Amino acid sequence: MHAKVVVVGSLNMDLVARAQRLPRAGETLAGESFFTVPGGKGANQAVAVARLGGSVAMVGNVGDDAYGQQLRQALEVEGIDCQAVGVCPGVSSGVALITVDAASQNCIVIIPGGNALLTPESVQRFDALLQVAEVIICQLEVPTETVAWTLARGRELGKQVILNPAPATGPLPAEWFAHIDYLTPNESEAEALTGEPVNDLESARRAGERLLQLGAGKVIVTLGAQGALFVSRDGSQHFPAPQVQPLDTTAAGDTFIGGFAAALVQGKGEGEAIVFGQRAAALSVTRAGAQPSIPYLAELTP
Ligand code: RIB
Repeated sequence: MHAKVVVVGSLNMDLVARAQRLPRAGETLAGESFFTVPGGKGANQAVAVARLGGSVAMVGNVGDDAYGQQLRQALEVEGIDCQAVGVCPGVSSGVALITVDAASQNCIVIIPGGNALLTPESVQRFDALLQVAEVIICQLEVPTETVAWTLARGRELGKQVILNPAPATGPLPAEWFAHIDYLTPNESEAEALTGEPVNDLESARRAGERLLQLGAGKVIVTLGAQGALFVSRDGSQHFPAPQVQPLDTTAAGDTFIGGFAAALVQGKGEGEAIVFGQRAAALSVTRAGAQPSIPYLAELTP
C-alpha cells in the first residue's frame, strides 16, 4: 500500500534523566531515574501518524550502531515504510540527552549523528514516495538544504506540506514560506521565527499573522496547556487544550502533528484534525518518554 504521509526528518535515541529540577550551569545534580527510548522529531511524528490511523513512510538516516538498529525496528513494528531509512557507515546515530524535572519541563541537547548526513539527493532517491503521498512533513533536525529541497518538491508535486519549525533558532529562509501549507510553531519557535515574544493568545495571533504575511499558507501556533491557535487568511480560531496532569511533555508537539496529519489523510477537516491532534497530545503528556508516550487510535475512540 502507498503511504499517504511521508515524514522527512530525524531519528534519535533519547537518553532521558528525570530529576527534581533541571541542573544549573556547572552543577552536578543527582537524578531519580534514567531510561533510553526511541525519539527524534521526525520519527516521533511518523509513529504518531501510524498509531493514529495513517499510512506513513519515513525518510531519514541512522548510524551503523546498535541504536540505529533499534530506531529502525521501532518504526518497523508500527508498520512504517522504512525503505528510505538509510544507514551511514562509520557514523553514530542521532542522540538526544534529555532532562525532565518534577514539573514535567524538559531541556534537550541533540547530537545529530546520521541525521546530519541526510542530503537532498538522499531524499530525491525516494521521490516515488513523495509522488504518491498526500501529505509531506518536515522538521528542522536535518540539514537546512534538505528541508528546503523537500518543501519545494512537495509544493511542485501539489502535496499538502507541513513544516514543524523545530528546533527553531531564528527566522526561516524567505523562499520557504510559499511552499508551506501548514506551519506549526510552538510559542518559543513562533518567537524565534518572528522576533516577537509569544506567550499568550494575542501574541500568538500577531505571530501567526506575521507568518501569513511572509507567505505561509496557514499557521497553527501550539501553546501547551493554553491550546492551539489556528491562523488563516480568513481569521483565527482558538482550540483550548484538554486539561490533564502532565508527567512528561516530550514529543507532545510531535504527537499533535502526527495526529493532525493522520486525520487530514482520513478526510477530516482542519478543525476536526486539530482537535484530534490535541486529544492525542494530551494523552501523550501523561506518559513518560517520546515514542512510548504516543497513543494508539483505539485509546482515543470514545
Ligand atoms: O520532540 C521531541 C524530540 O526532540 C525527542 O524525541 C528528541 O529526540 C528531540 O529530537
